[in-house]
Amino acid sequence: MRIVVLVSGSGSNLQAVIDAVAAGTLPVTIAAVGADRPGTGGVRRAAEAGIATFEVDFRKYDERADWNRALTEAVAAHTPDYVVSSGFMRIVDQHFLDRFPNRYLNTHPALLPSFPGAHGVRDALAYGVKVTGCTVMIADAGVDTGPILAQAPVAVLPGDTEETLHERIKVEERRLLIETLTDLAAARSTVGA
Ligand code: GAR
Repeated sequence: MRIVVLVSGSGSNLQAVIDAVAAGTLPVTIAAVGADRPGTGGVRRAAEAGIATFEVDFRKYDERADWNRALTEAVAAHTPDYVVSSGFMRIVDQHFLDRFPNRYLNTHPALLPSFPGAHGVRDALAYGVKVTGCTVMIADAGVDTGPILAQAPVAVLPGDTEETLHERIKVEERRLLIETLTDLAAARSTVGA
């Protein structure tokens, strides 16, 4: 099973996937890692692991649709079975989704449908929930909407900051993402999905 991983930030969840593949515990090929801007930690981590990388810089496009088309082509060039948004902080359009139908996975640091968007951890903390967590889903054209594949709870502890809570969520998020990819790879090999 070939995956392309999209990142916007540090790529620590991507690193967990790279490590699992290297350890032989996750039977997927990371065909490429792409970013929406230059200089992300995620692309640096991929390059260090010898994985192909690409950047489709959002700021270089006047029209969002043109950026979406360029991103779609850059991803498709690596012929992925699944595309994984791992901290990719841009919404893709229908053109992209039609090219990878039901094949675009997203991870989010909250228990959707609560606290969608770019600040899932901060918003959960501000609301005062006692339990939050993470979600792995099939992404659609909305903001963190789409069918949920897996979720895990994480307790909010007294004194938590956005950073401490996010770090504990990421531990669960990495486990959940790797578990989900393992299941999808197993389903492909048994039923040719
Ligand atoms: C992850 O927690 C991911 O769920 C979140 O960004 C973080 C990326 O961390 N994504 C979203 O909030 C999407 N709405 P990383 O770059 O260290 O892997």
